[in-house]
Amino acid sequence: MNLILMGAPGAGKGTQSARISEKFNIPAIATGDILRGAMKAGTELGLSAKSYVEAGKLVPDEVVIGIIKEYLSTDACKNGFILDGFPRSIPQAQALEDMGVRIDAVLSIEVADEKIVERMSGRRVCSCGASYHILYIPPKTADVCDKCGAALYTRADDAAETVINRLKTFHAQTEPLKEFYAEKGILLCVEGQEEVADTTALVFKALEKFEA
Ligand code: AP5
Repeated sequence: MNLILMGAPGAGKGTQSARISEKFNIPAIATGDILRGAMKAGTELGLSAKSYVEAGKLVPDEVVIGIIKEYLSTDACKNGFILDGFPRSIPQAQALEDMGVRIDAVLSIEVADEKIVERMSGRRVCSCGASYHILYIPPKTADVCDKCGAALYTRADDAAETVINRLKTFHAQTEPLKEFYAEKGILLCVEGQEEVADTTALVFKALEKFEA
């Protein structure tokens, strides 16, 4: 299964992509994680992405298209993949088509803007990749990662004013992709639920036809 996961910032793409990846045994490629990793390492990519990410804007298309091209050409993706956070604009979707990549489904997780702001303010993450919410998915010990024991922190772009900008960017540049993929007959929509497990159940149901 070659899957695109769409949704507003904080809709739960990362949370659900980890579960889909485990169930279908395919890798998830998250452009946001790749960019944050590069920012942390201080690479050229990270330095060029930082100002966009921290302002809640999209990193230029040619930068992320280059990243995706590289990942999709690896052997790890030959039996399927999940694209989490790509494409995020019509030119990115067009570039994916131009690469000749087959996409089986585009799953959009729908969550209202008001809910998003609440979720982002409670998100805590770990440098090992684990993600928590202080109310909905709390770690066993406050501010400590269950998986590796490191201290949890708040993402720089989860500041309230940046979240508002990310939502604006989503509605202006990414949401039009729903129509783009609906016209191709591959768009699936799932309402994000209060409980993560309830969303996962709906996601798995929507992807049932791709099970071996
Ligand atoms: P990226 O990291 O992709 O950020 P995003 O799309 O804004 O999504 P998030 O990672 O913030 O949220 P999510 O939907 O994965 O939600 P999560 O599962 O964590 O991108 C960051 C930036 O990089 C962008 O702003 C942009 O600048 C740049 N970028 C990335 N890709 C790009 C591209 N293709 N082109 C250009 N620029 C690009 O959940 C959120 C919180 O809610 C968590 O705390 C979680 O525990 C909780 N939660 C999840 N599900 C539920 C539930 N059902 N109920 C209650 N709480 C829940």
